[in-house]
Amino acid sequence: MDSIWIKGGARLKGEIPISGAKNAALTLMPCALLTDEKLTLANLPRLADVDTFSHLLNQLGVSTKVEGVKPGEYGRRMTMRAGDIASTIAPYDMVRKMRASVLVLGPMLARAGEATVSLPGGCAIGDRPIDLHLKALESLGAEIELAAGYVKASAPKGRLSGGDFSFPVVSVGATENALMAAVLATGRTQLFNAAREPEIVDLCNLLVAMGGKITGMGSGHLVIDGVERLHGTTYEVMPDRIEAGSYACAAGITGGSLDLIGARPDDMRATLHALSQCGLILEFHDRGIRVSADGDLKPLALSTSPFPGFATDMQAQFMAMLCRASGDSFLEETIFENRYMHVPELRRMNANVDIHGRSAIVHGVDTMTGATVMATDLRASMSLVLAGLAAEGETEVLRVYHLDRGYERLEEKLSAVGATIERRSAG
Ligand code: EPZ
Repeated sequence: MDSIWIKGGARLKGEIPISGAKNAALTLMPCALLTDEKLTLANLPRLADVDTFSHLLNQLGVSTKVEGVKPGEYGRRMTMRAGDIASTIAPYDMVRKMRASVLVLGPMLARAGEATVSLPGGCAIGDRPIDLHLKALESLGAEIELAAGYVKASAPKGRLSGGDFSFPVVSVGATENALMAAVLATGRTQLFNAAREPEIVDLCNLLVAMGGKITGMGSGHLVIDGVERLHGTTYEVMPDRIEAGSYACAAGITGGSLDLIGARPDDMRATLHALSQCGLILEFHDRGIRVSADGDLKPLALSTSPFPGFATDMQAQFMAMLCRASGDSFLEETIFENRYMHVPELRRMNANVDIHGRSAIVHGVDTMTGATVMATDLRASMSLVLAGLAAEGETEVLRVYHLDRGYERLEEKLSAVGATIERRSAG
């Protein structure tokens, strides 16, 4: 297993190109199942999760062709075509590896009238059930049966019928599955308390580009009028707001100045507000956002919530940065029940953090010290990299496959702005 070795201390300066958004790519790719025409996605990030999803689509009968990128360039083009659905089964070994695989459920139901998808099972950051996905699909007439760890779903008479569903809890994935199912259902569907993340808007934009009829994008009330069929198109994946926010924290924790090329301010207002509350200077220009540290980091009180609130996917990265703030910060993780696994590892780097249930108090320290630490999940591993960038001495982050799921060519991007960082292959 690879690890990432870092020698901390450099103030990072320069430009970081922001890649296509992982959490948009993983909901745009299954849209290929909704038509027998070609769907081409541009600006796809080169990530393990994108490759895993591509392999799953292949198993379902989707042909995929990827155009490479030149060295130093980012963003691949992938053309997919689901001429015929060869299989409607998403097996356990695929879903276990990547829970976003459940996002084939809605489109397969919509296109083929049936789907058998493994229940995703547990996850490091929380239980993460898919009950809301299933309830939303049932409101569209799907018949759902749970057997032997699998969801067996079918559309009576082969086609879903529009219906209304109100989400008791905001769920990104359940909203995405419902959207991809409703777009080919007969009649009108209304989703209430739907997720409003920019990745949902990206999905709605793609579905409309494919001929879908959707209004209310960006709001919690989505109205979808089903159509008979969708056509292919070419669509560019939105930039990754979480990657951009993560590198903004790298500027903060190292006392540097980073230009996030391609970052879109409207996708990340809560993150930007927190960064400026922390004392960072933000400059907006036509190529992106420049984030510069200006003296001490100020402590913060932060609570995660669905968009447009402060993103749960930014919590671990902010915690790492706030370890260097001049004072005590208060964090509350309201979305997932176990998203503090980076804390024991940060403590090994001299962080001083107290956890009380879903709340964390981060006592700022003058210095972090390098150590060998273990990545446990995607965003936790980024928080360890951030701490290593600022720590005195050397840090080695093990199990770096977690990072590869969500950060494209991280060591290349960070080396280019002055970090002493390299990937090491273990054996
Ligand atoms: C998406 O996960 C993202 N993943 C997550 O990013 C992100 O943290 C999360 O949304 C919240 O923004 C992708 O887009 C691939 P949810 P998702 O359904 O859809 C509960 C990352 O680091 N819930 O919005 O799985 C759930 O347990 C990843 O990039 C149910 O109870 O999240 C959680 O407490 C991590 N029943 C809350 O809702 C359900 O059926 C929000 O989950 C579904 C969810």
